[in-house]
This record gives sequence, C-alpha cells and structure tokens, in this order.
Amino acid sequence: MTRPLPDDLLKVPHRRDVPFARLTTLGVGGLCRWLFEPTTEGEAQAFVRACAREGLPWRVLGGGSNLVVLGDIDTPVLRLALPKIVQRDGTRITAPASHGHIALAEAAAAAGLSGLEFASGIPGSLGGAIRMNAGAYGREWVDVLARYRFITPDGELVEKAPEAGEFKYRWSFLTGGRVVLSATAQLAEGNPAAIRAQVAEYRAKRGTSQPLSKRNAGCIFKNPPGQSAGRLIDQAGLKGLRVGDAEVSPEHANFLVNHGRATAAEFAELMEQVRTRVRERHGVELEPEVEIWREHP
Ligand code: FAD
Ligand code: EPU
Repeated sequence: MTRPLPDDLLKVPHRRDVPFARLTTLGVGGLCRWLFEPTTEGEAQAFVRACAREGLPWRVLGGGSNLVVLGDIDTPVLRLALPKIVQRDGTRITAPASHGHIALAEAAAAAGLSGLEFASGIPGSLGGAIRMNAGAYGREWVDVLARYRFITPDGELVEKAPEAGEFKYRWSFLTGGRVVLSATAQLAEGNPAAIRAQVAEYRAKRGTSQPLSKRNAGCIFKNPPGQSAGRLIDQAGLKGLRVGDAEVSPEHANFLVNHGRATAAEFAELMEQVRTRVRERHGVELEPEVEIWREHP
C-alpha cells in the first residue's frame, strides 16, 4: 500500500502480513498485508465508512473456503471477528457472520431444530455462506433465510428479509462492498435422532464422493444449467491432471487438490487448462465458483 491508511481505520483491530496459506482452505497465496478483524459491528462499520470516505478499495474474507489468492494483497481485507453468540427465538436462530458455518449447523441440530442439515458439511463462515447462497443436497441458504443484516458500501446498516432476485444458485447481490453481519434462519422443530441421521447420511455421501483428506476449495466451477461440471471434467479425461502440486482430484473432478506444496499460480494454470479442455471437448464454458483475488499482474 503506497498510501498511508487514515487514523480512524487504524483504530480497528488489525494484523500485518498474514499468509493467505493460513487464511484459506486451499493453503496458497501471498501475504495479506492488512488484515482488519473488527470485534464489533461498530468497528466493522467504521472500517467500511473510512474506506468509502477515502475512496480506498477493500475486500471481505470469511473462512477462505471458496477462494484462490494470487500473490500479495495490499488492499485492506476485512475479516469479521464478532462474538460467536447464537440467539434462539422459538424456531429461529440468529448468528453473527463470523460464526463457523458447520458449527452453526451443529448447534441447530443439537437444539433439535431441522433445516440446516444441508449445511453440515459446508466449511467457512456463515457470512460467506449467505454471500455465496451456499447449498447442498437440493437445499440452499435462501430456503431457510428469514432475515439478514449487512453493511452497505456507504457504511449504513440494513436489516431485512430476503427478496426475489437477491439470491440465486451460488450467487447473491451481497457483493460490491456489502458486508453480511448476521443472519437469521427459520427452522422447524425436528426429531433430534432424525436430524442426526440426516447429517450422518450427508457426511457419508461427501466422504465417499469428495476428496476431503487434501486441502481444497470445494467445487472449483459452478454447475452449468442442467449439467454437472464434475462429470464434464471427468468425461474430458482430466482426473489426475497435474500442474506442480495442484491436481484435478481423481475422486471428484470438480475439486482441485493441493498435494502439499502447490502454489496459487499452479492452481490458476490448472483451472485454465481444465476450462480450455472442457470447452474443446464439450463446447461448454465453465464459470468459476471460487473467487480469485489478484492485485499484481
Ligand atoms: P470465503 O471463501 O472467505 O469468501 C467467499 C466469498 O464470500 C468472497 O467473495 C468473500 O468476499 C465473500 N464473503 C465472505 N464473508 C463475507 C461477508 N461477511 N459478507 C459479504 N461477503 C463475504 N459450497 C457450497 O455451496 N456447497 C457445498 O457443498 C460446498 N462444499 C464444500 C466442501 C469443501 C471441502 C470446501 C473446502 C468448500 C465447499 N464449498 C461448498 C465452498 C465454500 O465452503 C462455500 O462457498 C462457503 O460458503 C464460503 O464461505 P467462506 O466464509 O469460506 O467464504
Ligand atoms: N460425477 C462424475 N465424475 C466426477 C464427479 C461427479 O461423473 O468426477 C457425476 C456424479 O457421478 C453424479 C454427478 O456428476 O452423477 C453429480 O456429482 P455430485 O453428486 O458429486 O454433485 P456435484 O454436482 O458435483 C454439487 C455441488 C456441491 C455439493 C454437491 C452435493 C456444485 C458446483 N457442486 O456437486 O457443492 O456439495 O452437489 O449437493 O454445485 C461446492 O459448491 O463447492 C460444492 C462442493
């Protein structure tokens, strides 16, 4: 960062030069030069307001489970560190965006509330899951989302119920400087044993179809309408394709795995090779599901 950061921004708790390898599930990337970790909504709002006032670009990070970071990132990165308190009101639960996503699904199950079983194998934070409208096994967040709270790009607080067009498959409008602060799920009273059994079934399915023993970022590409990206990549014969320590998983072709020493550049190169070969073989343009952060050419 060539420009000095303003004093009010620097009052927000922050750390310097944190490797993205520690902030992402894929375990690659350069340094996060400025990692801001507000512990209150007010501090998060102060961060957004200061950046808006100064015209400073910034980014928001959750659990880093859907992210490939190329090189160092100089622009300030916001990662919420709000107290992990889950509030229950009847069959509704509200949690801060920085709450662990799987931990939230487990808390709901332990409380005998049904509706978040689908979420029990999706890592990352609740905020990232709302932003991505994360889903599995025929359900996605918008199906249970009753209300959510976010900061606007100008630093205003908004709390509302979801409306048509705000959430789609692996997409929401919560980008472009919007920060999810918390979310409320409308769940239903359930039979604790049945909830546990459903969670166990989903976990078992994941265990057999996804390469969970190696670092990865989930599915790399979105499924094209009516098709499975994994099947298309598999049919193109790309399982096991490798660039350095980055590999198209032999278990599930839409997962790229890190054999230990992969670099972000290797993942970017492998993604490009996969896209090209699927285009050539099937005439389908795959759209990345993972977000790619890059600041330096
Ligand atoms: P990050 O990776 O940190 O960020 C992802 C995006 O969300 C970025 O654009 C970031 O800027 C934005 N973001 C993060 N926090 C906020 C916030 N508070 N406000 C606004 N924007 C924010 N995904 C599925 O949908 N279904 C699955 O079944 C699934 N399975 C997976 C399995 C594995 C093993 C892994 C590693 C990943 C899987 N994923 C799956 C992908 C990933 O876990 C989800 O997309 C997850 O919801 C991302 O959350 P995160 O907090 O890690 O977000
Ligand atoms: N398939 C293959 N070869 C492969 C992988 C899959 O032929 O290498 C076939 C499977 O046999 C199956 C079909 O493709 O017939 C679909 O595969 P799977 O059931 O594994 O589901 P998917 O479409 O690949 C989606 C989500 C996952 C989510 C699962 C379970 C996307 C991009 N992926 O995977 O989400 O966990 O369904 O609901 O939507 C993610 O988004 O990161 C993610 C992991």
